[in-house]
Amino acid sequence: MKSTSKPQGRLLYAQSGGVTAVINATAAGVIEAARAKGVAVYAARNGILGALREELIDTGKETKAAIAALRHTPGGAFGSCRYKLKSLEAHRAEYERLIDVFRAHDIRWFLYNGGNDSADTALKISQIGKALGYPIATIGVPKTVDNDLAVTDCCPGFGSVAKYTAVSVAEASLDVESMCESSTKVFVIEVMGRHAGWIAAAAGLAARKAGDPPHVILFPEIAFDEDKFLARVQRTVARVGYCTVVVSEGVKNAAGQFLAEAGTRDAFGHTQLGGAAPVIAQLVKSKLGYKYHWALPDYLQRSARHLASRVDADQAYAVGKAAVEYAQKGMNAVMPVIVRTSDKPYRWKIEPASLEKVANHEKKLPPGYIAKDGYGITAAARRYLGPLIRGEDPPPYGKDGIPDYVRLRNVRVKKKLAKYSIEDK
Ligand code: F6P
Repeated sequence: MKSTSKPQGRLLYAQSGGVTAVINATAAGVIEAARAKGVAVYAARNGILGALREELIDTGKETKAAIAALRHTPGGAFGSCRYKLKSLEAHRAEYERLIDVFRAHDIRWFLYNGGNDSADTALKISQIGKALGYPIATIGVPKTVDNDLAVTDCCPGFGSVAKYTAVSVAEASLDVESMCESSTKVFVIEVMGRHAGWIAAAAGLAARKAGDPPHVILFPEIAFDEDKFLARVQRTVARVGYCTVVVSEGVKNAAGQFLAEAGTRDAFGHTQLGGAAPVIAQLVKSKLGYKYHWALPDYLQRSARHLASRVDADQAYAVGKAAVEYAQKGMNAVMPVIVRTSDKPYRWKIEPASLEKVANHEKKLPPGYIAKDGYGITAAARRYLGPLIRGEDPPPYGKDGIPDYVRLRNVRVKKKLAKYSIEDK
């Protein structure tokens, strides 16, 4: 498609925050839907930073096949960022710059694809059109592996990380079980989710019947109790010979400190999050003497497109498509959210929700999803989580055995404005 200047203006799409295995499926949904309507799409390089710096990419220079291949390519095809806008009162110049960029490139719709912080950015931008006198409609588009956005039933990106986690826990547990009599007795795997235990809970789907691994899940919603935990591990080893432990990176002790910050350091000497597994493993070793292994999948879990959930990839695409439809209908300050209409069979639809209801709210795991003993998930959690990991959507593989992921050309749009340096502001 040619990206000649359209009379009705252009749409600007940007990706924000930690990426997911399917955020590019949303980009494909946005670009394909806009192309179908004859609307040109620019993408900002590295999220809102690219919009401020006037670093724009002309997606019209990409082939149809390249855009279609975004659906099965992980990472953020246009680059992402963590950057929080201040309020209009606190930093008016920044918003004026955004409007200058929008005006210079005839941007009439801004689609911001991200999690909690990004919904806040989208909300702020949705209010500046009126305040600064330029017609710009802003739509927030959901994405986060953490699954902690309010209103939406689930977040694109979560179903795939949930599937990767459940499958990995099942597979690794078979490994540990094989040699537990004479070797490793405790395996600890750490999952993302700084404040909410959705990914940790999804690990519970690996267990098809009572007693199956994982034997212990440590949620950020429950304060860590060392004695109770150790007793549980010991009992499990006595019963089945080994113990698989899932620990959320966000687990805290009774004093509210993250485990990895509780005066201890992980094997790398880090006190940052992303070190709860080695802390737990060391504790098991020093108090119970068991041989352990621990794993920190870290970015592997949120980029594992080869193991994406079909439902998740479909939903990621659908929110992108819906965002373009809302923009074209003249909506502002909304987000397409996923509404579950039935559990069995699983059915869902997309509806617009007010950005105000989404931004700055964090959805934690409900108490009814955590088993009474605090170490597992309930039937209600299974009912909610189960459908989200269903179906496979593997990428095409090359002859070399590696998936054929696309790298876009990302042709830059010629700048029209004076240089703007965020670092100087
Ligand atoms: O975007 C969510 C998330 O994946 C969290 O679960 C994780 O704690 C965080 O991002 C990591 O952020 P970063 O990639 O910026 O270090």
